[in-house]
Amino acid sequence: MKFTEPAGANPIDRMTVVGRPQDRIDGPRKTTGTAPYAYERHAEAPNAAYGWIIGAAIAKGRIRSMNLDDARGAPGVLGIVTAVEAGKLNKGDFNTVKLLGGPEVDHYHQAVAIVVAESFEQARAAAGLVRIDYDRAKGQYDLAEGLKTAPLTGGDSNEGSKAPAADRTGKFESAFNAAPVQLDATYTTPDHSHAMMEPFASLAIWDGDQLTVWTSNQMIAWGRGDLAKTLGMPKENVRLISPYVGGGFGGKLFLRADAVMAALGAKAVGRPVKIAMQRPLMANNATHRPATVQRIRIGASKDGTIQAIAHESGSGDQPGGGPETAVNQTKLLYAGPNRLTAMRLAVLNLPEGNAMRAPGEAPGMMALEIAMDETAEKLGMDPIAFRVKNDTQVDPEKPDRHFSQRQLVRCLEEGAQRFGWAQRNAKPAQVRDGRWLVGMGVAAAFRNHINMKSGARVTLNKDGRVVVETDMTDIGTGSYTIIAQTAAEMMGVPMGAVDVRLGDSDYPVSAGSGGQFGAANATAGVYAACVKLREAVAQRLGFNSADLTFADGQVTGGNRSVSLRDAAASGPLTAEDRIEFGDLGKTYQLSTFGAHFVEVGVDAYTGVTRLRRMLAVCAAGRILNPKAARSQVIGAMTMGVGSALMEELAVDKRFGFFVNHDLAGYEVPVHADIPHQEVIFLEEADDKANPMKAKGVGELGLCGVGAAVANAVYNATGVRIRDYPLTLEKHL
Ligand code: MOS
Repeated sequence: MKFTEPAGANPIDRMTVVGRPQDRIDGPRKTTGTAPYAYERHAEAPNAAYGWIIGAAIAKGRIRSMNLDDARGAPGVLGIVTAVEAGKLNKGDFNTVKLLGGPEVDHYHQAVAIVVAESFEQARAAAGLVRIDYDRAKGQYDLAEGLKTAPLTGGDSNEGSKAPAADRTGKFESAFNAAPVQLDATYTTPDHSHAMMEPFASLAIWDGDQLTVWTSNQMIAWGRGDLAKTLGMPKENVRLISPYVGGGFGGKLFLRADAVMAALGAKAVGRPVKIAMQRPLMANNATHRPATVQRIRIGASKDGTIQAIAHESGSGDQPGGGPETAVNQTKLLYAGPNRLTAMRLAVLNLPEGNAMRAPGEAPGMMALEIAMDETAEKLGMDPIAFRVKNDTQVDPEKPDRHFSQRQLVRCLEEGAQRFGWAQRNAKPAQVRDGRWLVGMGVAAAFRNHINMKSGARVTLNKDGRVVVETDMTDIGTGSYTIIAQTAAEMMGVPMGAVDVRLGDSDYPVSAGSGGQFGAANATAGVYAACVKLREAVAQRLGFNSADLTFADGQVTGGNRSVSLRDAAASGPLTAEDRIEFGDLGKTYQLSTFGAHFVEVGVDAYTGVTRLRRMLAVCAAGRILNPKAARSQVIGAMTMGVGSALMEELAVDKRFGFFVNHDLAGYEVPVHADIPHQEVIFLEEADDKANPMKAKGVGELGLCGVGAAVANAVYNATGVRIRDYPLTLEKHL
């Protein structure tokens, strides 16, 4: 089904199952520990051997020698695979750096060998006996240094679309210089780690030249293609299965070393091999969100109209990599005739930078939305009034393109009212509660919606049950549930009569999970397949009207009603289709909007910041399941608190690695850090987005939170911190 014009009325509009706060159908399996993750596939491979990954001990250079003798003789060892033995592996399409290094080393903890043994403990012990000597080369690990000579770049944006190097509209410099109120400030965000609970994990099983890998991955088709390419085999011979994922956050968008090493290890020892990447390797072996240096200039008239706005972002990556596209939102969020956005990319030899938790907008909004707060203060304007004044209903760079929907102003105003914004004292450092300095902050929320092709297969079985199969993943987001809701609504059966099978490359290729594009696109693909299945049912039953109702397990046309069970009595009916998109997404700008409100207390003596209240108001098209969506948004708000107050990979600039490379050293918020959170969804249905009339919402919940926290800290203390995270020593 090609989506070419705004969606008219369709069966989803009934909203008898879709749009309701349904419990997660995978919830009981998750909470009772009966949802098996890749490393727990004991039934599939009772004889699996265990792999232990050895990560490079240098960041850049060359392996001079490897002595494997002692390790090979150690108890239980079945084999050792190194790059030498692995032959020349190809690099896949989605990673910048090889997943198995050697003899050249590209970054610290790049996998250089795997030891396979009968037991996990034996593999670990033997790995300690492998002797590797390196020739260390000089690398560049300092972003500020690297940016001094970094060229402007277009590069790949993190979600695969090309971003031009520098975009200009009007004449920024002269307009900025002429503006009576000017802000010119630079903000920095550090390197971030996904820090998902489940590490990279894979179980590889060979059957002749057929390879099956149980793994933990967000994008099955990408992973399958890349694994085949890396190993130099036809992708038809590779099957990737990932029905449960213990968190991805962008770190599992791509094939990673665990899958490659498990496949090589299993081949080498003639047994299934499983690997869970050791936690201390996770930060440096994985991709990460790269640090940014962002300069923002805003020039405004005295009445608060933005005349000129510029956002320049610098980040670093491995040679051949791409920039963090932190300027995305600045192209679209506020009006202003004179505009400039640009990115610089420094070549660094740190681990690869790539997508993490709303790449682009997440760190971009951390800078832009402090800049808006600072400019409002210079104008003597309320920060909400300043944002409202500069709202736009068209793409400021291409004024003939309208937003499909844009309720930013309503989000801000509704939130202000609910949060009690009128009680805020605009003058900083005025409100005390015992030892706490109390402040309120606001920020807009913005994240683009991306259309992706997505396919599904739907079967009506003899027992009247409906089975949905798609390679879509559920990374803890609720995919199983919203897909069941969609099929139930379309076929007119209860949710309990739908079986959802996900995350298997044998199923039709879906959008996958990433960039908040999963829910809306994957369900639209299921919608398309269900439309075909409805047609197949009608045809078999000899209905000649196209005007049929599927409800209560019956299909009804005119005054004739037949049960779905009867429709399938002579055999199951199967339909497969995918949603594809025409030019509507080019005619209209598809984005999601919101507002974040935060109240903090900052300890007047220690500078420790504690969240007191949080509210998000979101406008993101139809909300398919308000309960699951709320969970997404409060999780995202929590990530925003992490990025504002604690998350930071510490870079060792001498040796080129992230020092705090485990969950003890990399701080993320825990329950005690998070206060009352409230989420409000504005009523919307975006008929320009897809037949579901839904857009992404999960990452919207993150984009802006960090700045709202920072603005609240400023309101509490009068100290403006532009360098994330806002740790206590920065108040001095
Ligand atoms: Mo998300 S960082 O696009 O998986």
